[in-house]
Amino acid sequence: MSANQQNQNPAPKIDFQDPEFIRNPFPAYDYIREKDPVFRMLMPHGQYAWVITRFEEASEIVSDARFVTNYPMQDPEDDSDLPAHKAIISRNLLSVNPADHRRLRRLIQKAFTPKMIKNLRGRIEEITDELLDKVQHNGEMNLIEDFAFPLPIKVICEMLGVPVKDQFKFQDWSNHLMESVNNPALSQQGEDATIGFVNYLQTLISERRQQLGEDLISDLIKVEEEGDSLSEHELYSLIFVLIIAGHETTVNLIGNGVLALLEFPEQKQKLIENPEFIHSAIEEILRYNGPAEVSNVRWAAEDVTVAGKTIKKDDMVFVALSSANRDPEAFADPDAFDITRKVNNHLAFGKGVHFCLGAPLARLEGEIAIRELLRRMPDLRMKDDQDALVWRQGMIIRGVKEIPVVF
Ligand code: HEM
Repeated sequence: MSANQQNQNPAPKIDFQDPEFIRNPFPAYDYIREKDPVFRMLMPHGQYAWVITRFEEASEIVSDARFVTNYPMQDPEDDSDLPAHKAIISRNLLSVNPADHRRLRRLIQKAFTPKMIKNLRGRIEEITDELLDKVQHNGEMNLIEDFAFPLPIKVICEMLGVPVKDQFKFQDWSNHLMESVNNPALSQQGEDATIGFVNYLQTLISERRQQLGEDLISDLIKVEEEGDSLSEHELYSLIFVLIIAGHETTVNLIGNGVLALLEFPEQKQKLIENPEFIHSAIEEILRYNGPAEVSNVRWAAEDVTVAGKTIKKDDMVFVALSSANRDPEAFADPDAFDITRKVNNHLAFGKGVHFCLGAPLARLEGEIAIRELLRRMPDLRMKDDQDALVWRQGMIIRGVKEIPVVF
């Protein structure tokens, strides 16, 4: 290639702030995986972070105890330097030290085992039916607003015992928070969302203390009041993270899943004719266009050499899950969307001790949602061109704001 041609076609760059990259990050991931699979990127707030793009290293780092999710330079017991609204939600599963993580995970895990989640099947099917009944006669809907968002938010609200009528508040706070991660331009909106959310939780939890019910928040309040296995800040942090994680990602599992099925109509047809492929179809959606673009941040607890590069103690690391899931060394024909793919050990839910707590719930919601959608609306198609889709900002969540469809 001549120098002139090179200037015309600059190498694709990973830039989590660039709408064009967000729309289609895969050419840039392909390029970097080949050229510089473990690379240092300047973050918008002026710090450097390592970005890991190949499956092999991604799979190792996301589950390697030498890379911790709690900031190593901070005393885990001391949140006194944080403003009050941040301190109260600072002790969640992805921010505490490994010993506290084990204790908290054990406490909450019981509610999310595949067996417990199976009991929700009937209720998830009921909510799915109600939502599709509402739009069926219109012949069109906004798939995100009318279906993909209200389904998981209703399920997690009911599990926790949070009023479903407040769902739009959670949606706003959560969207604003996610978009503001590592984006200094949006830090004020993230701050306001945190304050709004925390004030809401304070009222909710103090009311629930007066009248406990049959829900997860009441169960957690009992544990907190009974002994020393759950502090007040941990109680708030768990509820906060469950409301956000409980819907943000699953919305986009359904949304991105429908986009992939519409992009590959022969796969959609295959699924309509063979609904028993729904399990492998959900795994393929998670791999092909999963809702979590990158892992939560990790910090190196010691110097570690990864693919020839030395990641120094206290360096910040992000694992690009979307890139790892398209690595040709790990997946045959990675850019093909194949709902019958046999070997599919993707990293969409992470790996190791932080493996997604909500994976059984997300899988069940995704299976019921997509199966019913295709059963009731087999002629589902985009109302506008795919290019008109607006992708969500931010480096954590991969998904679109709206999907107008007709059926
Ligand atoms: C398709 C939907 C979902 C995806 C793609 C997803 C993805 C992930 C990923 C990648 C992680 C690991 C992050 C890391 O290691 O840095 C994670 C952790 C977590 N997820 Fe999910 N998630 C989904 C749905 C859910 C749901 C429905 C819930 C809750 C009801 C949930 C709750 C959590 C929690 C609490 C953690 C932290 C676990 C720990 O640190 O031990 N997620 N999720």
